[in-house]
This record gives sequence, structure tokens and C-alpha cells, in this order.
Amino acid sequence: MSRLGHEGEDIIGRWSEGKLDLLAKYLKAYSVIMNEQKKNWLRAYYYIDAFAGSVRPRAKEDEQRYIHGSPLRALQTEPRFDGYWFIDVSPRRIERMQRLREAFPDCAIDVRQGNCNEVLCNEVVPQLPYSSKQRAFVFLDPYGLQVDWETVRELASTKTFDIFVNFSIMGVTRLLPRDQNPEPEVVEQISKVMGSTAWITQIYQEPQTTQLPLFGDPEEPTPSRDAIQAEWLASLYTKQLEDLFPQVSRPVLMRNSTNSVLYALCLASHNRTAIKITNDIFNRYEQLKDPKR
Ligand SMILES: C[S@@+](CC[C@H](N)C(=O)[O-])C[C@H]1O[C@@H](n2cnc3c(N)ncnc32)[C@H](O)[C@@H]1O
Repeated sequence: MSRLGHEGEDIIGRWSEGKLDLLAKYLKAYSVIMNEQKKNWLRAYYYIDAFAGSVRPRAKEDEQRYIHGSPLRALQTEPRFDGYWFIDVSPRRIERMQRLREAFPDCAIDVRQGNCNEVLCNEVVPQLPYSSKQRAFVFLDPYGLQVDWETVRELASTKTFDIFVNFSIMGVTRLLPRDQNPEPEVVEQISKVMGSTAWITQIYQEPQTTQLPLFGDPEEPTPSRDAIQAEWLASLYTKQLEDLFPQVSRPVLMRNSTNSVLYALCLASHNRTAIKITNDIFNRYEQLKDPKR
């Protein structure tokens, strides 16, 4: 999790830097491939940052050290995208993004303040129909459960957008009580971000005896039980994505310094090669973190 510094910038942990490095690696590969396609059928391709953030977050371990946030990672990607949309709900952060126009005068930057679900569905999607021969990469990087499943559905149905989602595992597990059924409002809240909640009914059917992985074996040490739960939720989310997108990568789990799983990062795409590249990038990342894998 990140916290806020005095100037409204995020203060982020090592895992967030890992996430940004994975993003940068994939963006490079995406942009090389899309640029090649411009010689054939493609008219233009865009980077859309739906939760653009504070542009230069600070490192938690050393608050004097500034890190390049996702908008900068995209602007630094070569070859360049034909345009960049930066969306954020925070006016202070929007101001920071406006300043990027001076730093990158050759880049077409569009900045929108608002709830990204509305901006994506009402402003972005209508501009890029499949027939326009334009394509876009959307980065969905919320703090918690802010990405509506309906938005994901809308993006998928156009067939023009690939999405790179950082799904908040912790946001879901926090809402689910261990020893009683969740309240209907909680089920609704989860349904809003995950589509189906049939799995919730299932895991609470026999809470004392169930072997379903969300609660696991109470005798198991907590770290491994939590890890199993997190992996299970991550694969559940990617399975849901497979109902909307023809190709979905495996999820990579983002852990904090105490090894707790916070998020699951994955790509949903219309292109098989994109998934292969992403899985390779994720595998290398995990191998570097844990050479025994
Ligand atoms: C995790 S930070 C993004 C970090 C950024 N992607 C990066 O890697 O540098 C989440 C951002 O989402 C913004 N935000 C929260 N809810 C939002 C919403 N519904 N729509 C758009 N932005 C939102 C916050 O103001 C915050 O800047």
C-alpha cells in the first residue's frame, strides 16, 4: 500500500517499483510490435493511464528518492505512442500531469480529471471503435476496488483495448469475514468489481468443514494459508477475465516487505503473442525474486 507525502505524492514500497518495472518492460514490447503494425493496417495506438497517480512517487525506504510513476514510464517508452491519456480523480495530481506537457512537448497528452469508470466508458471508448483501426493499452492501477467490472466488460467488448490490471487481492480479502456470511452490501461491492459472486455463496456454504481455499486449513501456518487464498483469488479473477477477453496472462502476485500478497497483476488482450511476452516477463521477474522457482 502507498501513503501520501506532504505534497500529495505517493510514498511507495519496493513492490510498487517492481510493478512499474514490469509495466515499462511490457510497454516497450507492446510499442515495438504496434509500431511495426503501423506499416500495415494500424492507424494509431495510445497509452491510457486510468489511475495515473502522482507522476513522481517517493520511495518508502528513502524518501529523498523519487521514482518515475506510470505516466513517465509510458512517456519514456520508445517508440513513442501516438497519444497518451492520463486520468485521475485528484485535482492536485491532475496539475502534476498537466506539467508533463512542457517536459514532453512532442507527445500528444490528454489529461482528464474524474472517476476513470466514467471517463473510460463515456469519453475514451466512444472515440476508439474497432473500425477506426486504432488500438490502445489501458493501465488499471487502483488503490483498492475502484475498477468496475462493467468498465472492464465495456473495454473488452470493443476489441480495441488491451488492459493491464493490478487487481487488489487485499481489497477483497479484507471484506470477507472468516466466520460468518458477508453482509449483502459486501457481496454487492465485490460483485461490482469481479462480475460474478457465485463463488462467495459456495465458500460460505459449510464454513466449518469446507476445504475451499479462501479459508483453507486453520491448522496451516498463516503465511502459507494466506498465500493459497491469494493465489486462488488471483486465478479466479483471471478466469473471469477469460469470459471477456480471448487471451489472458497468468497473474503475478505483488507482495509487500512482509511477503503478504497485496495485488495480482495481469494482462488481458486480444493477441496471443502479447500474452506470451507478458508471461515471459512475469516468469523472469519471479525467478529474479526467488531463484529457487
Ligand atoms: C495506486 S495510485 C496510481 C499509481 C500510478 N499508476 C503509478 O504507478 O505511478 C492510484 C491513483 O488513483 C487515483 N484514483 C482513485 N480513485 C480513482 C478513480 N475512481 N478514478 C480515477 N482515479 C482514481 C488516486 O488519486 C491515485 O492517484
